[in-house]
Amino acid sequence: MRQILVTSALPYANGPIHLGHLVEYIQTDIWVRAMKAQGHQVTYVCADDAHGTAIMLKAKDNGVTPEEQIATVKASHEADFAKFLIDFDNYYSTHSEENREFSELIYRRLNGAGHISTRDVEQLYDPEAGLFLADRFVKGECPKCAAKDQYGDNCEVCGTTYNATELKNAYSTLSGAAPILKSSKHYFFDLPEFSEFLSEWTRHEGRLQPAIANKLQEWFDAGLASWDISRDAPYFGFKIPDTPDDEDDKYFYVWLDAPVGYMASFKNLCEQRQGSEQALNFDDYWLAENQHKTEVYHFIGKDIVYFHALFWPAMLAGSEFRTPSGVFAHGFLMVNGEKMSKSRGTFIKAETFNEHLNPEYLRYYFASKLTDKVEDINLDLEDFMQKVNSDMVGKVVNIASRSAGFIVKKYDGMLSQQCAEPELVADIVRTGDEIATAYENREFSQAMRLIMQCADKANEYIDSKKPWALAKEEGSEQEVQDVCSVAINIFRQLMVYLAPVLPELTNNAKEFLNIDELSFASRHELLLGHQINKFKPLMQRIEQSQIDAMIEASKESLEKTDDKADDKKASTSTSNKTKPIEQTEHTESPATAFIGIEDFAKVEMTVAKVLACNHVEGADKLLQFTLDVGEDKPRNVFSGIRKFYEPEQLQDKKVICVTNLAPRKMKFGISEGMILSSGDPKTGLVVITLPDEAVVGDRLG
Ligand code: 2FM
Ligand code: ZN
Repeated sequence: MRQILVTSALPYANGPIHLGHLVEYIQTDIWVRAMKAQGHQVTYVCADDAHGTAIMLKAKDNGVTPEEQIATVKASHEADFAKFLIDFDNYYSTHSEENREFSELIYRRLNGAGHISTRDVEQLYDPEAGLFLADRFVKGECPKCAAKDQYGDNCEVCGTTYNATELKNAYSTLSGAAPILKSSKHYFFDLPEFSEFLSEWTRHEGRLQPAIANKLQEWFDAGLASWDISRDAPYFGFKIPDTPDDEDDKYFYVWLDAPVGYMASFKNLCEQRQGSEQALNFDDYWLAENQHKTEVYHFIGKDIVYFHALFWPAMLAGSEFRTPSGVFAHGFLMVNGEKMSKSRGTFIKAETFNEHLNPEYLRYYFASKLTDKVEDINLDLEDFMQKVNSDMVGKVVNIASRSAGFIVKKYDGMLSQQCAEPELVADIVRTGDEIATAYENREFSQAMRLIMQCADKANEYIDSKKPWALAKEEGSEQEVQDVCSVAINIFRQLMVYLAPVLPELTNNAKEFLNIDELSFASRHELLLGHQINKFKPLMQRIEQSQIDAMIEASKESLEKTDDKADDKKASTSTSNKTKPIEQTEHTESPATAFIGIEDFAKVEMTVAKVLACNHVEGADKLLQFTLDVGEDKPRNVFSGIRKFYEPEQLQDKKVICVTNLAPRKMKFGISEGMILSSGDPKTGLVVITLPDEAVVGDRLG
């Protein structure tokens, strides 16, 4: 059994969790669950990243203390993570005593070993606000093209990069005052001393992704610089210890104590679990001598590689702690192929998503996209809806929904004593090995592909056996039970494979399957002569209207957030209370568009007989028809009349089918025609039926 500690990057305590963040937490959570399901001892910790100027200023804007600010945000982060089923073993804060102690300890050890030096640095200072200004808080005229209102590092108009001190007519964005140059002493961590160690460390097989290792090589080639780890008061963070009396207002830069927050959160968990069965030993995971006893992995975004693959291992190595076993970076999230955008409504907060859609949809979709690469991933909302509906509802859940009914109704919930298709079932069990490897290698997209192939095999098997037809034949009772039992067993295996991605759905499936666990090993045991419970729908289809509403709500968020940011009152509040904007003052009825009789004559209306009519799992508006239209093969047609008819009411009826409509690909299959009905799709539709004498295949009109 491996002992593994896993972390995700610590989100800043100054804003809500959004879908961009969730890529990482979902990726990490799936990996952790998959590794736990393999029987490893895995601990997953995280925390809010609570320090820094931004948080201090945000608290000031909100009229609260930094402590109040970070407490509120932490609670909202935790609530969001819970909704998305991110199962941390501990969620802590970098503003904690444990973190102070470890930050001081690491600093003292680095200092003691001669890795810290000081030097005076001249920086822009806002004399009114009374603080040193980072580049993003200084604006002025571009020294090259004189464009106004350019930030302190580069000009958005001509593209020149410069130092903030070069801006003309510079002003502080905090107070509007003209900044002055002021000198102060800064503390530096001597990163160049670790160059050799790091260049070896980063090349270690499996520790970093190749793309990251190559990027780091470029940095090594360019030469590493020492790292400024101090900030002047006022600052929200930890004071640097042991400074001379006249310098006792120096603070650790937020990025010094942020990664130490991983240790602190873990330490806090060790304290919580002391003496319990799940007790953890801090030293096992962090002392240098235990480098190979346990494993530590950090999941991060590609923008913070420098901190995790250079500063952090150097800090740890320089202070007698172990270094990470691996640092795994992922790319950014795009929505509909573009950067998330507040004006397009694609900057979607976790909370907003959850108000409109089931978080497990997103977990599945991200899983289907994630690989071990550093590439960006794209949430294409159209593809998202299609994929979830067709894979989850149409393929996976469908296996259970189409077989459970027979077992429950006809056999009192009892599965067959023997497996009627041992080869097929063994094949699915074997695929589990590949799926487990794909999970472990963070090739989730490959894992999802393999799982869907298994689901396809199960559906093909059911289609070929047609239990619904067998059920009507006398003497086929055993076969119906056997076929459905095979399907249910495969479904159970799929639940094992999907459990890391869909913890809630698979947990609900346990109840239906009447089983206790879904560990990877459990897939080997077949459910024979086993009683199952009544099937309840496990996942609803996504409707376009839900996505539209989520995008609309995200647009509203912007209006409210921006207004507030503009008048500098607050910018953390969410906008769910904002009323939707009135789209139009009055409704216009569209003018009727006339078509000529020649066009109408092109419509082929054919007498059809309903051979079969069924509900469509997961589609609350549709009925599925098998129609005899007088051709060699019956046609498959979907019709949005489920609200108005029970399938039995239309069985064997003669209806009118438009037979020369181009086939339409829908989420559940191809619709090869349209059944004529009249009325209002909102309040009531009546299918036009013909007398029994009507002849199938005749054309009307
Ligand atoms: O980039 C960020 O959002 C940082 N708050 C991540 C910190 S990760 C770790 F080092 F704490
Ligand atoms: Zn310019």
